[in-house]
Amino acid sequence: MDNAKEGAAPSTGPAQGGGTSAASAAGLRGVVAASSSIGDVNGERGELIYQGYNIHDLAAHSTFEEIVFLLWHGRLPNQQELDELKQAIGASYEVAPQVFDLMRQFPRDAEPMDTLRTTISALAFYDEHARDISRAGALRTAARLTAQFPVIVAAIERLRKGQELVAPKAELNIATNFLYMLKGEMPDEREARIFDVCLILHADHELNASTFTARVVAGTLADMYNAVTAALGALAGPLHGGANTNVMRMLLEIGEVERAEEFVKNALAQKRKIMGIGHAVYKTEDPRATHLRRFSREMGERRGETKWHEISRRIEETMHREKGMYPNVDFYSASTYYMMGIPLDLYTPIFAVSRISGWTGHILEQYANNKLIRPRAEYIGPRGLKYVPVNER
Ligand code: COA
Repeated sequence: MDNAKEGAAPSTGPAQGGGTSAASAAGLRGVVAASSSIGDVNGERGELIYQGYNIHDLAAHSTFEEIVFLLWHGRLPNQQELDELKQAIGASYEVAPQVFDLMRQFPRDAEPMDTLRTTISALAFYDEHARDISRAGALRTAARLTAQFPVIVAAIERLRKGQELVAPKAELNIATNFLYMLKGEMPDEREARIFDVCLILHADHELNASTFTARVVAGTLADMYNAVTAALGALAGPLHGGANTNVMRMLLEIGEVERAEEFVKNALAQKRKIMGIGHAVYKTEDPRATHLRRFSREMGERRGETKWHEISRRIEETMHREKGMYPNVDFYSASTYYMMGIPLDLYTPIFAVSRISGWTGHILEQYANNKLIRPRAEYIGPRGLKYVPVNER
């Protein structure tokens, strides 16, 4: 029976001990839950910075490896430091053979995000230093994870297609290596650079759901594998990383440019959300979408198939006109990856190939100045009920 019907006194006010009312902070919007020098999102101005550098500057001039260093160390590397990082990553590409054996047992039709989560979790068994969360130990694990994420995502695709695995080449950067391992042939240079910038754009985004999850787990002083495995679970959801795959499914469903506007209007009339649109923080254009829109068009032109870009443009215009909303990072990454020939359900794992840099950066920051994260809930249930034996209820 419902407690209220039993005449119990309703709870009044927020949890004992004070704090913000949950009603005023649904979804923790606007609540500051950590201090961080890694990245900042200015939702009003549509600005994103990593360690003080504007994302536009980084997208134009930097590389993903430099960003990894920046997020872990708080500054851009000099040449020697960059070379050392690349060496550390190159030396960590080798995944334990037992992990591939395990992956071969997974159902071929498993969701790649599920396969990735379970595989990343299993990596810890074969890392004798997994529990070392000292700064040096955690940096070492961060390099291993950053190197092994792309190897595993490429392996997910090849194993489910019954193809031989392609070994990574230590001399290639992460973006090129990933496309090479995925397809078994060297990617075109421009395409590899576009992919490299996609990795830069997805690397960090302050306290998004998966990064917050990683910090909560790290805050218990659990090791990095635990924190990253939990973050993968958060990223999988359609309101977070899972949106990019759903954007492409929607574009395919729409199929023709002329149908886009009507599709959006129907969806809105039925109170359905358009994936890849809207953001919890940005109230204007997501600065990452500015670059991805360009890549979506360029990749379409390179492939001679601009339809997906044009449908996306039409959706964007309609959503702006009807709801005053803007595309987020997932909107144009969908058609960009589609034109790269990447399977739809790998888009979210690819998000993780990039975001592992931000997750590990935040975990390092959490370990360095740790406090267990333990908020309060505003109790809204009854109080003062008396226990009634089961046969009397
Ligand atoms: N399409 C249509 N309507 C949308 C919308 C979308 N993509 N996103 C938000 N809205 C509407 C909601 O329906 C709601 O309308 P209502 O007030 O009439 O009920 C209003 O805008 C606020 O939505 P809400 O989900 O509470 O806002 P939020 O700030 O919590 O949402 C997202 C942020 C990202 C969860 C949301 O915009 C969304 O679900 N987008 C689609 C999923 C996506 O792309 N996620 C990736 C984020 S990077």
